[in-house]
Formats: sequence, C-alpha cells, structure tokens
Amino acid sequence: MSVTIVLGSQWGDEGKGKIVDMLSVDADIVARYQGGANAGHTIVIDGKQYILHLIPSGILNSKAICVIGNGVVIDPVALLDEIAMLESFGINVKNRLYISHKAHLIMPYHKLLDSASEKSKSNSAIGTTGRGIGPAYIDKARRIGIRIVDLLDRQTFLEKLTLNLKEKNDIFKKIYGYDELDSQSIITSYLDFDKKIDPYITDTTLFLYNAIKDGKKIIAEGAQGALLDVDHGTYPFVTSSNPTSGGACTGLGISPISIKKIIGVTKAYCTRVGNGPFPTELNDSTGEEMRRIGAEYGATTGRPRRCGWLDLVALKYSIMINGLTDIALTKSDVLNTFGEIKVCTDYIVDGKPLKTFPSDIPTLSNVEPKYTSFEGWQQSLEGIKIFDDLPQKAKEYFSFIESYTDTPISFISLSPDRNDTIIK
Ligand code: GDP
Ligand code: IMO
Ligand code: MG
Repeated sequence: MSVTIVLGSQWGDEGKGKIVDMLSVDADIVARYQGGANAGHTIVIDGKQYILHLIPSGILNSKAICVIGNGVVIDPVALLDEIAMLESFGINVKNRLYISHKAHLIMPYHKLLDSASEKSKSNSAIGTTGRGIGPAYIDKARRIGIRIVDLLDRQTFLEKLTLNLKEKNDIFKKIYGYDELDSQSIITSYLDFDKKIDPYITDTTLFLYNAIKDGKKIIAEGAQGALLDVDHGTYPFVTSSNPTSGGACTGLGISPISIKKIIGVTKAYCTRVGNGPFPTELNDSTGEEMRRIGAEYGATTGRPRRCGWLDLVALKYSIMINGLTDIALTKSDVLNTFGEIKVCTDYIVDGKPLKTFPSDIPTLSNVEPKYTSFEGWQQSLEGIKIFDDLPQKAKEYFSFIESYTDTPISFISLSPDRNDTIIK
C-alpha cells in the first residue's frame, strides 16, 4: 500500500508539476503513467523555472528515481531535448531515469498525421497540441505501434516501420496530397535514439512490483486532466489516453490494491486549452484578468488558456471517476484582487438542475451554470504557511469547496514556488 496518484482533476494545467515536485521530496520513485509530450509540467525552485514534458516531475529531487511507464507515448526528439536541458542545469538524469521497454514510440508520421487531421477538420478541430499523441495511441490500439522493445531488435523494427510507412505514405499522398516520408532518415534517427536511450530502458513493471513489495514510497504522476480522459472526459474534445486514476494501473502495470491516496490537483478557478465545451468560461474582462494574473498560457504550445470560474459540478464528477481522497488546490493567489469570486454549483437545463455531468457535447455546451458568490479576500496570501492564518473570507471559500465536494483540501498552493504551500 505505498502508491499515491497525483492527477489533474480539470482540463489539465492545474499545477501537477509543482505538487508532484513538492511531494517527491520524500518519495523513492515518481512514475509518469500516460500521455506524452503534449504535457507541460512547470516547476519553480528559487525563481528558476523548469518545464517538463515527458520526464516525471520528481527529477529535480536528487533522491527520487523517475520512471516513464508503458502507458506513455515517447517522442525521441522531445525526450533527448529534455535530458539535455536537465543536464545543462547540472541535474543528473543517468541512473535515475528508467523507461519502460513496453512504451510506444511517437514516429514522425504521427506528428504529421496529427496536424494534417486537425487542419482538415476546420470547424470540428480538437485543438490538439500537435505532438502526434492521437495517431500514436491509434496505432497502439490497432496493434501496429512501434514500441521501445522493437528498437532492440533491428529486424523487427525495420519490418514494422516498412509496414507502417507504406500505409501512412498512402494516406499522406491520397488524402492530404503531401509528399511521402523517407524511410532511411527515420531509420537512422531512431537507431541513433536507441543507442542514446539504451542505458535507461528497463522492465519498469517488474521494478515497480518489487518497489511496492519493499514498501517504497511511489508517486504516480498523471498528465492532462480527468475531463480530457478519452473515456470519461468531454469526448471527442479530449486527449487519447486515460489521465484518470485507473490509467495509473494500466499505464504502470501496478495493482489497484497498491494505491493508498489519490490527490486531485485543482485550480481555484478553471482553464482549458483547445476546443470543447467549458460551461463556466468567461469571455470578458474577468476572464482576461485571470489569464493575465495567472499567466495562463500553455507550457507546451504557448497558446492562451481559456479561463472561467471554478466548476464544482465538474469537480464532483471528477472526484467520482477518480476516487479522489484529497484535493490539492492551486493558484488561489491569482484571485487575491478579485472583489467577487463565483463557483458553479449546478448546471441548469430547461429550468431544472441536472443530476449528473452530461456526457454529450450538445447538452454540456448549452447548460446554464448556476453560481454561488463569495466576497473576495482582497489581500495578498504571500508567506502564509498555516491554514488558520488565512483571511476569513479565503477560509470560507475553501471550506465551501470542501463541504460541497465532501473531499478534504489537503494542500493549498499559493505561488509557483515549491515552498509556498499550506499543508493541512
Ligand atoms: P501542470 O501541467 O498541471 O503541471 O500545470 P502547468 O505547469 O501547465 O501550469 C500551471 C502554472 O501555474 C505553471 O506556470 C506553474 O508554475 C503555476 N503555478 C502552480 N501553482 C501555482 C500557484 O499556487 N500559484 C500561482 N500563481 N501559480 C502556480
Ligand atoms: P498537462 O499535462 C492542458 C489538450 C489539448 C487538446 C486536447 C487533445 O500539461 O496538463 P492532444 O495533443 O493530447 O491530442 O490534445 O487535450 N491537452 C492539454 N491541455 N494540459 C495538458 O497537459 C494537455 N495535453 C493535451 O489542448 O484540447
Ligand atoms: Mg501543463
């Protein structure tokens, strides 16, 4: 019983990087379980900012071993760039990063297919990050994906690549009118990648099994957020993996019985990048204030994030599908200057509140959010280390969230820095 899952409870960018980094101070292992370089997890230590896309957010704690699990789709270019970035800051990655031999690889044709498919959709585009995530998971589900283990056997790699490339080049030529991709340059770059990552590849399933047996402290780090889950999110405006807690079991090969805590990182308001319904979105000066003060621009793509009030209907749904034991609330400090703070407590359709979070886009796009309003605390929260020292109005806001969701807020993050967090 030694695994804590840390995941996003909303549409991503909740501050998972900060919370995982903070908790990993006394963790033995930090393991990413899904997604790929679509993620951008930001960590700030002593004013210095690090953005991680694939490598777990425990890498800045020299004691933690980091694992990239089988559920992650790995882009060699992004991975090597990230290792080089960390090494340039004097952070030791060797002997501390283990990569699953079962993880699937993002290939150049996945990235091209991602952007080609998005461009061709004009009105129904998902607004993906363009990192090839969807096409890579499609190939995994079709059982034609190329895995890390395939790189170890040159013959298998060449056969799989030839088969894949023939099919993809047909699509590029016949559907999109693009030039064909050349196999030789892909072979050369992926075999070179194989040599570079060889020391990191291992059977992470067995490694984690033994670690759990030995009672090691393990953090399973999710990417994206529950509402972007391919099964439970706002489909089709989702990613192609399972950021929800169940994804940690399949994406790492660990037993559900080993999970002790499930922490949902939750922003004190809401943001979303990309397209899809967002009931509490604010297309006004209040939303712009959130974006400006919260620096709400994508850590991976730089796109402005859509901003809106905290949506407790969506959060309650997220708690249900993840089994959250705790909430880590981030970015309340962004609301410091707000005179009024609202939270959505019901979705109204035809004058009546809905009983559940809707699963279809037309309903979710047309709900009327009902709000409860709070007076803002209108003072800085800087330097506050214990809950009792918070202004009364902030405590009321946090207590309302706890009682509505019936879930404790165990962490309140008050700045990007790993040290500015109230632990309850
Ligand atoms: P992630 O993808 O969930 O790791 O989140 P991102 O890194 O994409 O976005 C969260 C942003 O908020 C980053 O710029 C963090 O440095 C920042 N951040 C995290 N926690 C806090 C907080 O409590 N207050 C403020 N002001 N910023 C925070
Ligand atoms: P982190 O881990 C926020 C969104 C994209 C798009 C949808 C599908 O930093 O929270 P994809 O490229 O995955 O096929 O895009 O998912 N998205 C994210 N939004 N944070 C992320 O990651 C995201 N990763 C993907 O914007 O709407
Ligand atoms: Mg992010």
